[in-house]
Amino acid sequence: MKQDLTGKIAVVTGTGGGIGRATAVRLAQEKMRIVLFGGNNLAKLDETRRLVEQQTECLAVPGNLTDLQAMDAMFAKMIDTWGGLDVLVNNAGMTLNAPFAETTVEQFDAIMAINVRVPYFLTQKAIPYLKKSQAATVINIASVVAHAGYPGQSAYGASKHALLGFTKSLAAEHYNDNIRVHAIAPGGVYTDMVKIARPDLTPEGMIMPEDIAEIIAFFLLNRGNAVVDEIIVHRMNKQPFLV
Ligand SMILES: NC(=O)c1ccc[n+]([C@@H]2O[C@H](COP(=O)([O-])OP(=O)(O)OC[C@H]3O[C@@H](n4cnc5c(N)ncnc54)[C@H](OP(=O)(O)O)[C@@H]3O)[C@@H](O)[C@H]2O)c1
Repeated sequence: MKQDLTGKIAVVTGTGGGIGRATAVRLAQEKMRIVLFGGNNLAKLDETRRLVEQQTECLAVPGNLTDLQAMDAMFAKMIDTWGGLDVLVNNAGMTLNAPFAETTVEQFDAIMAINVRVPYFLTQKAIPYLKKSQAATVINIASVVAHAGYPGQSAYGASKHALLGFTKSLAAEHYNDNIRVHAIAPGGVYTDMVKIARPDLTPEGMIMPEDIAEIIAFFLLNRGNAVVDEIIVHRMNKQPFLV
């Protein structure tokens, strides 16, 4: 039976555009209440808030996600305003196209911080609230680079492998708390990230951010006895893992 998500509370990270914005808007269509967490481009965040508020209530909390105190402040504001949490979507992330030999410590640390450390500790801080929810779900946006190796993506690939490893342990550790944990591993999605990294790609035939948002909605709407751990998403006309 389809779940009624009306009034359920979701925190989505990295909602200034791309997959994060599409997800916030899709969940807003289900009348969930949405926290837009993180991001320094206030104009982009404001546009997402405008889209979400056409459907539902919205809290926008900008800032650098790597600041652990900002996470505490966001949860405090959320509890103060709405009193709980049901869904966490760890979406924010960055990529890096650089040969292994030239990748710097600063680049490595930055990518591990946003792609691994942020979801790890944001989820840790979310768990006490999720334990009180009947719809508790964590969704981590991994990537096909969590499964395969691509040249020039050693740091990005390492970060997404780490995120997937974290996801698996989290799922096992909190299974008995009735917290569902899912990973989605998309191939190339037509967002700013891909437009910058692969300017040769055109939108034709590409996965769109709305496709990923629809899969997230599917996870939340279908909370039956059949648990889907991970969905790997690739293009219609490409073999899996070829972007
Ligand atoms: N696009 C793809 O082909 C693809 C494929 C597989 C997986 N993914 C994953 O999907 C997720 C979303 O990516 P996207 O393609 O939608 O890219 P995007 O449009 O570039 O969005 C990335 C988001 O993360 C936010 N972000 C990055 N670093 C941050 C930080 N330190 N503090 C706060 N916010 C930060 C950005 O905020 P600002 O707007 O403020 O910069 C932006 O909203 C990422 O985890 C990515 O690895 C993407």
